[in-house]
Amino acid sequence: MKTQVAIIGAGPSGLLLGQLLQKAGINNIIIERQSPNYVLSRIRAGVLEQGMVDLLREAGVSERMDREGLVHDGFKLAFDGRVERIDLSGLTGGKTVMVYGQTEVTRDLMEARTASGAITHYEVSDVSLHDLKDGLPHVTYRKDGQEHRLDCDYIAGCDGFHGVSRQSIPVETLQVFERVYPFGWLGVLADTPPVAEELIYASHPRGFALCSMRSPTRTRYYVQVGLDEQVQDWPDERFWSELKSRLPADTAANLVAGPSIEKSIAPLRSFVIEPMQYGHLFLLGDAAHIVPPTGAKGLNLAASDVSTLYRILLKVYREGRTELLERYSAICLRRVWKAERFSWWLTSLLHTFPDTDAFTARMRQTELDYFVSSEAGRTSIAENYVGLPYEPID
Ligand code: APR
Ligand code: PHB
Repeated sequence: MKTQVAIIGAGPSGLLLGQLLQKAGINNIIIERQSPNYVLSRIRAGVLEQGMVDLLREAGVSERMDREGLVHDGFKLAFDGRVERIDLSGLTGGKTVMVYGQTEVTRDLMEARTASGAITHYEVSDVSLHDLKDGLPHVTYRKDGQEHRLDCDYIAGCDGFHGVSRQSIPVETLQVFERVYPFGWLGVLADTPPVAEELIYASHPRGFALCSMRSPTRTRYYVQVGLDEQVQDWPDERFWSELKSRLPADTAANLVAGPSIEKSIAPLRSFVIEPMQYGHLFLLGDAAHIVPPTGAKGLNLAASDVSTLYRILLKVYREGRTELLERYSAICLRRVWKAERFSWWLTSLLHTFPDTDAFTARMRQTELDYFVSSEAGRTSIAENYVGLPYEPID
């Protein structure tokens, strides 16, 4: 088998890149370890930056998002008995975010891919990447007990944090930057009406809490938990009561509890590798970087990587501009590090850290107070939250 771009992984990065390439007439094949249903069963992020919304429109997969997605032009920060609104639209010259679940984005992309006739091989195993630097790049894998070989011009490593792509790069050529936080997020999905129209990020002495949503009838709520906590220790009643205890009193009074549809604990981590490419292999999304979810940046960073590689490949195939390929990693990393900074900063400000000394605690409180009380501070939060601009490729 032969294709122009071999894509490893059918998460949002792989599917969105595949769809954009397909529309531009650039041939690609996706290979994915799991089944489509497994991929769709993962509950992940839910806030799309304007840049990602525009990219989904360009890819021709925005019809349902534009119909069902919720446009948010602000969010709330609750701390020290105060509730402060960040007016995203007013502070950024009209920019907004779209609340639309990653699961739905993935479903829309899968449907578009099926309709386009592009090939995805699901439930493959033993994926291995070869000749990345010299010779003919190719991918080998097993499917239904048979060994396959896929020859290609380029490989897009879209296989997430635990994928094989990053592990195929010689370690001595990579630099790793990592921080693991001493807590996780316990998330609950429920068919209940959202407690408020906008997202609420709450900092509380008992720990951080977040009120988010998927639709006018489906909510996604989170509470900060210790790293030793297990989901089975959190029956629904305990979750709802803990969430209410961390929210402002009038918000807690309005909260509608209900049976959870999904409940899971995710650890928080910041992670970046440099560079994001090796020979003919390019890494995108979670394969190259992880952010803690506090700034809602994970999925959006995957989208900006996709945009960068897509625009470079367009120029490579249409204008022979192969020299652009060398710039992929540097272009991505400039934006990645800024999103890493924002996610780390917001995480540090809003969570309760074990063993924080009194001075550090006061500094955190004062930083939050300063940022929300100053127009410059609120603007800084808003411009990062709606997403920093994508770098042009020329
Ligand atoms: N071979 C093929 N596929 C693989 C392999 C492998 N060796 N290893 C992992 N995969 C698949 C996974 O099963 C998954 O479907 O790669 C896909 C990676 O998808 P995600 O983990 O969702 O990563 P990505 O597409 O980069 O999505 C961006 O950012 O912060 C997050 O929530 C956000 O998950 C989202 C991500
Ligand atoms: C979510 O809805 O799952 C969500 C929203 C905002 C975040 C993180 C997660 O910062």
